[in-house]
Amino acid sequence: MATIKVKKLKSIPADITVPGDKSISHRSAMFAGLAKGTTIIDGFLPSEDCLCTVKAMQALGADVEPLEEVEGIGLVKLAITGRGRVLKEPESFIDCGNSGTTMRLLSGILAGQQFTTELRGDESLSRRPMKRVADPLALMGAKIEGHGMSVCAPLHVTGGALQPITYELPMASAQVKSAVLLAGMFAPGKTTVIEKVPTRNHTESLMTHFGVKWYRKGHEVTVYGNQEPQPNDISVPGDISSAAFWMVAAAATPGSQITIRNVGLNPTRTGVITVLLRMGAQVTHSDEKDNGEPHGNIVVKGGELNGTHIGGAVISNVIDELPILAVAAALARGSTLISDAQELRVKETDRIAAVARNLRAMGVSVQEFDDGMEIEGGAKLRGTTIETFGDHRIAMAFAVAGMFAEGQTVIEGAECIATSYPGFERDLNRFVLGEPPGQAIPVLSRVPRSVGARLGKAEET
Ligand code: S3P
Repeated sequence: MATIKVKKLKSIPADITVPGDKSISHRSAMFAGLAKGTTIIDGFLPSEDCLCTVKAMQALGADVEPLEEVEGIGLVKLAITGRGRVLKEPESFIDCGNSGTTMRLLSGILAGQQFTTELRGDESLSRRPMKRVADPLALMGAKIEGHGMSVCAPLHVTGGALQPITYELPMASAQVKSAVLLAGMFAPGKTTVIEKVPTRNHTESLMTHFGVKWYRKGHEVTVYGNQEPQPNDISVPGDISSAAFWMVAAAATPGSQITIRNVGLNPTRTGVITVLLRMGAQVTHSDEKDNGEPHGNIVVKGGELNGTHIGGAVISNVIDELPILAVAAALARGSTLISDAQELRVKETDRIAAVARNLRAMGVSVQEFDDGMEIEGGAKLRGTTIETFGDHRIAMAFAVAGMFAEGQTVIEGAECIATSYPGFERDLNRFVLGEPPGQAIPVLSRVPRSVGARLGKAEET
């Protein structure tokens, strides 16, 4: 088991870049694998989750050529050559690892194929509910079998002739919305998803990028049927969910300033900026737009943070940032209420229970509710041993908390961080060890070398 021993924060680096956006990386690999022809994906996130998606598309017939690797991070540029929307039946089961996004979105794609695929996951993923995608996909005509009432993995997805549906999401979930829209590309006619609360819209922006016709009317997203994505090179911006760790570290350090470069700034993902501003942090950003996804540099200046209420429509926008925002709340003056966040109970672990337990272990008073928690800010944090429960965002949020604690904080089971943020520990060390003033942005050496073996046939299953 990997552990990270975190000491007190020494200084905030002037500049940092974070690896590529996880949601966009997954979707780019899927759309590229469904397109006839070659798409080059640059800025790809080579985390375990996203590599599961790449290997899945490879097992389904796409050709994957590694193009560029960054030391300490992994494969950041690759070419995916798809064979069109009719995929090859895989020789064996597909391993989705820890990745809910892989399993749920892939179910939508497989619903449109004429064969049965088995999707497996690790222990955590095998406990997560897949009924939320099995239900609408069954309405469209696919058969999705899993275990128990929640339809848990291993899943057997049998695709077939689909019919279009209009489906209102029972919970705010971009993964469910995306699964239905992806399946909709294989049905005749128009498939519509109604989302009362907006969720991240990367599937929609990438449908545009890959030439798939769709439109939005109010709360309804409609995709036209019988479509095939067209190959189109894409550049993936940095992940704001990864940037959030350093945004909070800087925001809670009076007198500090950090610039986080080339971060995705899709408005369905920038709730963390909104919340930090409300807590009294100074956050500004530049905006650029290409490939349909806005991105830019985020500048955070540190100061005193105040408690706030995080609830309602902003929740789906900050769903992955709530663990680190809970840490920000512990470092703030006054109390913070997080409500309407019951979805946190079915993430990689029960994130409400995991955050409450670890904050308490650090000396923070926390009251837990079914849909959130109230955190009393301002207590002196004490270093302790953190249980990650195999959840990457718990591990990283408490590594940041550890930088503000007296004594040493030990993150046990830190290997889970690789599911979303390769290079996290190296970046954390820049805060813990400090850097000489005026240090330039480290230029990562780009090392093109064959990583074919890692993605090769022998490891496909
Ligand atoms: C994701 C959507 C969110 C998020 C997950 C990635 C996506 O899940 O928590 O990390 O890429 O669509 P839900 O859609 O289940 O809320």
